[in-house]
Amino acid sequence: VTRSAFLIELARGADALAIAELSRDSIEHGLGWRWTRDRVMSCIRDQSTNVIVARRTPSAAGNVIGFGIMRYQQRSDDETAHLLLFAVAPAHRREGIGSALLAWLETTALTAGTGVICLEARLANGEARAFYRHHGYCERAQVRAMYRGVEDGIRIAKDLWVNASAASRTSS
Ligand SMILES: CC(C)(COP(=O)(O)OP(=O)(O)OC[C@H]1O[C@@H](n2cnc3c(N)ncnc32)[C@H](O)[C@@H]1OP(=O)(O)O)[C@@H](O)C(=O)NCCC(=O)NCCS
Repeated sequence: VTRSAFLIELARGADALAIAELSRDSIEHGLGWRWTRDRVMSCIRDQSTNVIVARRTPSAAGNVIGFGIMRYQQRSDDETAHLLLFAVAPAHRREGIGSALLAWLETTALTAGTGVICLEARLANGEARAFYRHHGYCERAQVRAMYRGVEDGIRIAKDLWVNASAASRTSS
């Protein structure tokens, strides 16, 4: 297996369509396409949302092989970030790209003083559930018909502060 060299950086406007298409094909299949180019573009422009991409290297612009969209809660008393959308292109899975994207988002959340990352996934999405479990996320609740009223979902979260202090305890 040849592993791709890749880099992670903030998305640019020119990436919006590639991100939207990856969402349509990898995340929203069977549910209709709601994360369109315009919606992704508004996230890229939104101050309280991080949109990041993984690109194949060496690369000029383009070559999006994975992405993550994370929104910080607006309320000052609620220190959580919501991972809205996250995917790696099928040809590049199991190469550590998802882990690298997630690590970037977790580090950024911690730096911003945000202690909890929450997200939802389809209940039937075993690969995503395994991926988040691998990274210390906990499954909190199942929700019937979470997706467009037809498909069950699961709420997943990670307390970054608990995990960060546990990690520093084990390394000291
Ligand atoms: C979930 C997803 C983002 C993982 O990305 P990835 O780049 O393949 O993940 P990584 O290579 O960093 O995997 C890290 C670890 O997670 C676990 N994991 C990842 N994919 C898995 C799978 N299909 N089955 C079981 N475990 C898996 C493994 O422990 C893996 O480590 P290993 O490869 O050494 O065994 C990717 O499968 C994906 O895009 N899926 C479709 C979209 C989606 O479900 N998005 C999330 C919900 S919004």
